[in-house]
Amino acid sequence: MGKLEGKVAVITGGTSGMALETAKLFVEEGAYVFITGRRQEKLDEAVKAIGRNVTGVRADSANLADLDRLYEKVKSEKGHIDIVFASAGNGEVGHPIGSMSEKLVDDTLNLIVRGTLFTVQKALPLMRDGGSIILNASASHLKGYPGISVYAAAKAAVRSFARSWASELKDRKIRVNSMSPGVIDSGASAAIPKEARDFFVSQVPLGRLGVTKDIAASVLYLASDDSSYTTAIDLVVDGGLAHV
Ligand SMILES: NC(=O)c1ccc[n+]([C@@H]2O[C@H](COP(=O)([O-])OP(=O)(O)OC[C@H]3O[C@@H](n4cnc5c(N)ncnc54)[C@H](OP(=O)(O)O)[C@@H]3O)[C@@H](O)[C@H]2O)c1
Repeated sequence: MGKLEGKVAVITGGTSGMALETAKLFVEEGAYVFITGRRQEKLDEAVKAIGRNVTGVRADSANLADLDRLYEKVKSEKGHIDIVFASAGNGEVGHPIGSMSEKLVDDTLNLIVRGTLFTVQKALPLMRDGGSIILNASASHLKGYPGISVYAAAKAAVRSFARSWASELKDRKIRVNSMSPGVIDSGASAAIPKEARDFFVSQVPLGRLGVTKDIAASVLYLASDDSSYTTAIDLVVDGGLAHV
């Protein structure tokens, strides 16, 4: 029997990287997953890679009409939600305060802060009491890395949401936690130059970058009854980078 047998999960930004890995693991553990992304071809590839118990919905998490369409689809196919993993996020490095554009600030806050908020708000009417919400933050909010201040600040807001919403949703026994990956070999981090990569590896106490399976296992923990006494935390999955 899987850890998520019969559960219905929504995973935003689920066509690539750690969220796709999580969707695969959730299905192996017995869940039905709805995944989102903006590009239809990536969505089709991801649905194929997951193979069963999955529906792909093209949706931009920064667009409220898209979020409404996503949840209408979930409602018509399954009628309820047990787990939300709000993972859609963007992170560009190399933008110090002196040269940050208005567009970068707006796009980052719009997707990470506003998008995460409405992803959760619009899921709530369909969520079963006792459900689990996991917000994808980032260990970048724990330190002062240069060039990513607006991203780190947006992720700090995401971490803060988990605290407030855990409190607001406690009467429904809905747990809300954030999860903060360190440097994971996926997405933007997979493209960092060798020199920067070697630097990060040298700083990580566990001596390697993270892999998507590290994150999927941690999200499964927060989604399943294994973490039934855990709410409002930030689970940092960074090989010790931010704490040692
Ligand atoms: N990689 C790291 O080292 C790292 C570290 C800490 C935190 N994180 C966070 O972890 C999450 C996933 O990162 P990743 O590196 O695994 O990502 P990734 O491989 O780049 O995948 C990003 C996914 O999100 C989708 N997406 C992007 N913008 C979206 C939007 N507006 N609406 C809906 N979907 C959207 C992408 O598909 P489309 O482009 O087709 O929409 C894709 O499926 C992000 O929130 C990121 O900030 C990453």
